[in-house]
Amino acid sequence: MKPAKLTLDGQDYEFPVHEGTEGEVGIDFTKLRSKTGAISLDPGYGNTGSCTSTITFIDGEKGILRYRGYPIEEIAKSSTFEEVCYLLIYGNLPSSEELQDFNEKVTHHSMIHEAIKDFFQDFPPSAHPMMVLSTMVASMSAYYPRAMSDADLDLNIIRLLAKAKTIAAFSYKKSIGQPFIYPRNDLSYTQDFLNMMFAVPAEPYEVPSVLDRALNLLLMLHADHEQNCSTSSVRMVGSSQATLFGAVSAGIFALWGPLHGGANQRVIEMLQTIRDDDMDFRKYVDRAKDKHDPFKLMGFGHRVYKNFDPRATILKSAADDVLTEMGIDDPLLEIAKNLETIALEDEFFVERHLYPNVDFYSGILYRAMGIPTEMFTVMFALGRLPGWMSQFKEMSLDPHTRISRPRQIYMGETQRPFVPMELRGKSKSELEVEEPELTPA
Ligand code: CMC
Repeated sequence: MKPAKLTLDGQDYEFPVHEGTEGEVGIDFTKLRSKTGAISLDPGYGNTGSCTSTITFIDGEKGILRYRGYPIEEIAKSSTFEEVCYLLIYGNLPSSEELQDFNEKVTHHSMIHEAIKDFFQDFPPSAHPMMVLSTMVASMSAYYPRAMSDADLDLNIIRLLAKAKTIAAFSYKKSIGQPFIYPRNDLSYTQDFLNMMFAVPAEPYEVPSVLDRALNLLLMLHADHEQNCSTSSVRMVGSSQATLFGAVSAGIFALWGPLHGGANQRVIEMLQTIRDDDMDFRKYVDRAKDKHDPFKLMGFGHRVYKNFDPRATILKSAADDVLTEMGIDDPLLEIAKNLETIALEDEFFVERHLYPNVDFYSGILYRAMGIPTEMFTVMFALGRLPGWMSQFKEMSLDPHTRISRPRQIYMGETQRPFVPMELRGKSKSELEVEEPELTPA
């Protein structure tokens, strides 16, 4: 492609243009400041590519999401979470031997150090499981050495993938005061997690296959989403060559925010509020449109998707199927569908391209599965783990990676003399009177 031309203050400059494999175009501004003295200003990074990547492709206008080239719809129909982890981390779908080997490794690393287990005792009972997960993941840096080679990094990736589900389930058991259930090597990733969540030592427990299938689907749909807020946090922290555990711990906190993954908890809380308010969903649609009301329709809108979120489409139909199979009639599903119908016909939402996102229907599924509301975002984090780690790996292996260090346009005070304590708070005229003392002849 021909270089892009920029005219600044009457002078012309040229910048190279890169085209991605799906035709996306990016103007390479790495030399913008050295050539022109100016920087690009893009708060929220809506127009900024922070890296090139081969992991995930999204076309927000067309509602396309692909992992390593495979459409999310096909993955959802035919794959498993373990296979998706392998695909994201290593770049290709595994052969049956490769998958077996990968599963064995992930299975055999799922126990956590007994000393880490003791940390759980010191959190207050009210501690949110996302906080516990992030802290525990960060604490792994104390037990597992920093990666010094590609093989070390691969091992730490396996360790974190394997142990995160144990940590997540333990944080739930701690919050309800039940004994920890240790991981089992004869179960799949999702079965093992559900067993650690719901089994108790007093009686046998078999993971219902409907729960296993639903969890597999949910984790696969959350597995990666290119350079979103939490993934960018992981990359940004990792760009200073911090450890994988530290970078993912930061990503977990970024995900917890209500505008990001934390929205799934907020969606259910919003639907419950509407249920308890005589099911008056119209009132809440009107509130979301009112610019003087901070209320938003949680689970609606997306920075990238402007037509539909393909994950939400899959989850809406899965919610119907799973609830029917489990014989559950949840009024929140009806409220959600009504909200969606009203919002999709309303000019405010149509004009702004606001559609249900992945968080809109996922909570209804988690609820049906018996997963408590506070654990919803933890489920998102478990699903996103392979994405964060494959992005971290890609960044670590990329010879072009530099420490992330954005610039700013300073809008504060220009240079002024330091004011001694005794003169602070005085008016300009008072200062002028006292000026001779400040600068004695
Ligand atoms: N309810 C009502 N109005 C909304 C909503 C909403 N959920 N989302 C956006 N808008 C309005 C917004 O007020 C703005 O209106 P105007 O142009 O009149 O000022 C317009 O739509 C554009 O929104 P924006 O805030 O500039 O869009 P953004 O790209 O900066 O933010 C978002 C995207 C997802 C943070 C936002 O849509 C939102 O807060 N949604 C609710 C929270 C949510 O569901 N988050 C989960 C995101 S998907 C899971 C994930 O990957 O994190």
